[in-house]
Amino acid sequence: TRREDESGTPSANKKDMADYLVKFEKQFTLTPQRMRMIVDSFIEVLERGLEKKGEEVPMLPTYVFGWPTGQEKGSYLAVDLGGTNLRVCHVELEGDGRFEVTQTKFRLTEEQKHADAQGLFDFCAECLDNFVKDNFGDDDGKVELDEPLPMGFTFSYPCEQDRIDHGVLIRWTKGFGAPGAEGEDCAAMFKKSLQKYNTPVEMVALINDTTGTLIASSYVDQATKAGIIFGTGCNAAYMEKVANIPKIKHLNLPEDAEMAINCEWGAFDSTTHEHLPRTSYDIHIDETSNKPGEQAFEKMIAGLYLGEIFRLIMCELIDEGVLFLGQETYKVEKPFVFDTAFLSLIESDPTDELLTVTGLFAHFFSLDTTIAERQFMRRLAILIGTRAARLSACGIAAIVSKQALLDDITDVKKQTVGIATDGSLYNKYPKFPQRLEEGLVDIFGEKGRAIKTYHAEDGSGVGAAVIAAMTKARKAAGYA
Ligand code: GLC
Repeated sequence: TRREDESGTPSANKKDMADYLVKFEKQFTLTPQRMRMIVDSFIEVLERGLEKKGEEVPMLPTYVFGWPTGQEKGSYLAVDLGGTNLRVCHVELEGDGRFEVTQTKFRLTEEQKHADAQGLFDFCAECLDNFVKDNFGDDDGKVELDEPLPMGFTFSYPCEQDRIDHGVLIRWTKGFGAPGAEGEDCAAMFKKSLQKYNTPVEMVALINDTTGTLIASSYVDQATKAGIIFGTGCNAAYMEKVANIPKIKHLNLPEDAEMAINCEWGAFDSTTHEHLPRTSYDIHIDETSNKPGEQAFEKMIAGLYLGEIFRLIMCELIDEGVLFLGQETYKVEKPFVFDTAFLSLIESDPTDELLTVTGLFAHFFSLDTTIAERQFMRRLAILIGTRAARLSACGIAAIVSKQALLDDITDVKKQTVGIATDGSLYNKYPKFPQRLEEGLVDIFGEKGRAIKTYHAEDGSGVGAAVIAAMTKARKAAGYA
């Protein structure tokens, strides 16, 4: 390791770092007052989305009617396409809130995310077909079943649905771009792929991962009010009274019915950029992405982007001659090489000398770091991670306020507003959950302590199964 006093780093560099830190603290810090302003505009945008189709935050009706009873039962398949991996699961629901999951994961390549969409669904069908043969077939892989296996398809992108086994892709998000899917019914495309393999499977429902999280969590814990994903992308779902969804009035549903809404809140503030405090780094990420002008909120929060924000700042400081003086920096100058998991590592380094950070830079980027550089980077990681959590708190606060969920709270120790969450940022980023909850207290004051976030059951697997079960029961009861 390069030592500070031998490094030749002029003391002016340390001062530079301190100056930059002041600048970044200003850019990345969200005051409680600013947060409340964001919440107010967020609430308006959510309401607008419920009024009519095609709004910025589309507030998508999911055709998931009401909460599960917890007694949903049976054997279901789930296919989960939504980010880094493709997953195929078999879920056995026991009917008493318990379940068992068997699953296989496949990593998706960048090529698959950008090649012809029907090919992507063919790949999903092929993986599902192999899974069915392995798990339900005889030694030769022959599958004989009395009835096709019911399957829930977790397709975690914004889809406009007319019914539950249908979903027109509004736009790809999270770096996907496979041509031939936007504007098309992806449920139908997947069914077409399934026919090619003759797999004895019936797609019962197309769902979003947030809706899955909402329902899977409620299956085991009735305090759940919203389902949120903090992963490669970021989004939320909650249960809304049909009477509050003017845009589906034509369905003539009973006034007291409820339907889960997939908010697609990642799109918040993408058109006018009036509400979010975007930095030049956020703007750069947006403009160089495959979808400029979309998902402004998500791009400031989600796991796909946080490492890249950090990397862009590092690159700026390399150019300014502040970081890594006299070293070859090309390895860190490649877009998206700085994984968000690295930010977690930097933040959680337990040593005074920040030796994990030393190792990280040496190993992945062949860079020596001074202790001053490492401390600077730790501060930077904290700023980026904290901003993501506090912006997320604004989204949660908007749903909580809109639903007036804190109105009945008199004792924050005994009463809970449950927010079920999943995704790597929530599960693996140190302090993310605490920062989220601190943000909520900054917005609501002490009452905000009633809002509890917790890691939910696997929404994309178990949630898909429970929703498939609910849909079958609904059909059996004679509903469309
Ligand atoms: C993106 C998708 C959304 C999904 C979220 C989390 O925001 O558009 O559908 O729920 O990522 O995976």
